[in-house]
This record gives sequence, C-alpha cells and structure tokens, in this order.
Amino acid sequence: MTGSSDAVLIVTDSPLGEQIPAAHWPPIARVEPLNAIDNIDLSAYSAILVDADLSSTKTIDRLKKSLHALERQIPRYFLVTEGRRVEMVQANVLGAHATETRPLTPEGLKRLLSASQPLADLPDIPATAAAAHTASKALGSAFDALRSSTALNSVILSGASDDIVVSLGAVGLDQWLDTVRTHHHGTYQHCLLVTGVLTNFAQKVGMSRADISKLTTAGLLHDIGKAAIPVAILEKPGKLTPEEFDQIARHPVEGYDYLKAHANLGTDILAAVRGHHEYLDGSGYPDGLMSSQINDLTRIVTICDIYGALSERRAYKPAMPSSEALTILEGMSAAGKIEAALVRALREAVEAA
Ligand SMILES: [Fe+2]
Ligand SMILES: [Fe+2]
Repeated sequence: MTGSSDAVLIVTDSPLGEQIPAAHWPPIARVEPLNAIDNIDLSAYSAILVDADLSSTKTIDRLKKSLHALERQIPRYFLVTEGRRVEMVQANVLGAHATETRPLTPEGLKRLLSASQPLADLPDIPATAAAAHTASKALGSAFDALRSSTALNSVILSGASDDIVVSLGAVGLDQWLDTVRTHHHGTYQHCLLVTGVLTNFAQKVGMSRADISKLTTAGLLHDIGKAAIPVAILEKPGKLTPEEFDQIARHPVEGYDYLKAHANLGTDILAAVRGHHEYLDGSGYPDGLMSSQINDLTRIVTICDIYGALSERRAYKPAMPSSEALTILEGMSAAGKIEAALVRALREAVEAA
C-alpha cells in the first residue's frame, strides 16, 4: 500500500472516529488499522499518527519493527492516555515528535501536527532507574499496608507493574538487574530482581499482556509476608538458627493471609504467594504440597525466585553469574524439586535477554 508524499498516515487499533471526529482530520489523511502496518510503505507519507495501546508489548514490537525499518525519518505522533506514564515512555522510545492525550481535540491535533522536532529521548538507564524506584516505593507501601493491616493500594501496584513491563521490554533483563543491584538492597532488591526475572520470562515465552502483568504482580508480592518478620533476621548475613529459620518460614502464610483479606487478587496469585517455597517432591514449605497440588504460576514464581536470590548482591556476597545460577536450578530439577521444562524455558529467556 502506498500513499502520496504529503499525506498523513493515521494508524489506529480502535474503531475509526471514536477518538477524533473525521471533520478534523488533516485534509489529506489515510487511516489504516494497526494490524496492517507491516504491509504499508511508511516512507510514502509525510507523517504518521499512532492511536494505539502503547502499554501492549505486541503493539510496541509491531510499531518498532516498521518504524525502525524506515530509511527516511518522518515525524511520528502518538496519542496517550492521561496518567499512563508507561505510554509516554513508550512513545519516547519510538521516537515521538509529540504526544497528545486522548480524546484528541481539534486544537490538540493542530498542536500535534505542528511539532517538527523529536522529543528528547528518555535515556534508557534513567528510565530503568525510575521504574525500579517506582516499584520500590510500591513495595514500601505494600509492606506498610501489611504491617498496619490496611488495604493494598492496587493503583500504585499496577502503575509500578506497568513501568516494569515497559522497562524490561525496552532495555532487557541485564540492565534491569544491574540497576536494581546498584540502587536497592535487602528484601526490596530481592523482590525487584525476582520481578524482573519473571517479567522477562513472561515476555520471552510470548505470554499475553494479561499474563505478563499477572507474573509481574506475583513477583512484586511474592515475599510481602516478610513485612511481618524482623529485619534483623531477614538481613542476617550468617547462618540462621533453627528458630530464626522458623520465623522466616512464616512469610508465605503471612503474605497469603494478608492479601486474601486486604487485596483483590486472583486465586492463582494467592496460591503463588503461599506456595513459592513448595517443591514438586513435597519437601518444601509451608504446606509440603506435592506436584499435583502446585499450579503453573507458582512453579514459575518458585524458579524465578531461586534465580533472583542467587543473582542478589549483598555486602557479604557478590552476584552469582547467570550460568552458575542456571546450573544450580538444573541440579534441583534433576533432583525432582522443580519443573525441568520451566528451567529450560528460563534458560532460554535469560539467554535471549
Ligand atoms: Fe519467599
Ligand atoms: Fe523470594
């Protein structure tokens, strides 16, 4: 499909006219559905306006492929939803010249199409650090909520989860792990590492947006029960006494009980919070479940939790190289504790990153 060189191409994933009244389109405009973009010669247009869900990794991949293949830079404009920072970050990653919030007004459209210089790119590292910072604050608020037995703030949590998904999609796992290890410590570092490993896993195996989001949320919350355990025990550098271990081992049930009473989460996430230290051979805790009683989400969280724990950097312990961590996981799967197919998938997801 080709267009005339002064025409504006409008690419949309929503029914035409829902956002912008047709009377306000530029005089020469062509509207195409997002899923046709692969077959459109973008260089034949003077500009492109994208009205699509920029929090969807599938949408971003599709746009990236087409826009990066362009030999000639054309101005690109994006509609975003107010308050969704994730869409702003993605628009920047895609080289936006300007963005406007939905619903687009005639004035907004005029402003949009008059921008001729690209916005300053958000550098990758600060964007990653910002996403990790947001997530750390969300963890702080969730841990406080458990300690005070008040409701979990799902808005803060889903905002943090969106930012992590975007960040991982844009910069990859290695940079996420490096950023988290540099700026965060203790239990929050652990939770952020595990979440990154889970999000990357979900993205690399091609899960749906909803499932990616679910795994990210499960990662953030899996150890929320540690909010009920004294920090001196959690952060103890040496070997734990049996009594101290018993205290730490309470965290899956503490987390589960809190979330069941104070959050609106699916049963599979609750099961993962309670069951992420269970092993397929029944040797885990707190319930000593056998493989048939452990759901897929829990199995994935367990494997990514171990990988994340091995990847931690502490004052007394450097981060273990990825290859060694994977070898340990493979040993555990050979011993029947965790699922071999998922360990293989994690190896592929980590190596692809
Ligand atoms: Fe845990
Ligand atoms: Fe953990």
